Amino acid sequence: MALIKWTDDLNLNIKSIDDQHRKLVSMINEFYMHLQQKSNKELISKLIRDMKNYTIVHFSDEEKLFDQYGFQESIAHKKEHQDFVDKVNDLEYRFNTGKLVLSIEITNFLKCWLTEHIKGTDAGYVHLLQSKGMI
Ligand SMILES: [Fe+2]
Ligand SMILES: [Fe+2]
Repeated sequence: MALIKWTDDLNLNIKSIDDQHRKLVSMINEFYMHLQQKSNKELISKLIRDMKNYTIVHFSDEEKLFDQYGFQESIAHKKEHQDFVDKVNDLEYRFNTGKLVLSIEITNFLKCWLTEHIKGTDAGYVHLLQSKGMI
């Protein structure tokens, strides 16, 4: 069973952003599936790297919009993004150097962070972006 089920409360109703969030959810689900199947370390490591890189692309796209439209809470929002990337970098490093065994706690962390960030923090820019015509 998928770790994260896409539910309507994850939709921000801005298509380009919802599409990126859906892709992140599906990448986390794929990573989780391979962990459960005990796939080889190289594949898991690649999935972590891909997930991290796509997350960076997504964060950067959001942040460009903040700068473009003068989003008031952009500093705190960008800090949340950076803290998450730092955390994933640390997980990746520890996994790749054999210092970390991936566990359900880690997949739960990814799941909770992403869903709470979308529903809590990302939801905060919807009104502004929609008022600028983004749907
Ligand atoms: Fe987001
Ligand atoms: Fe965000």
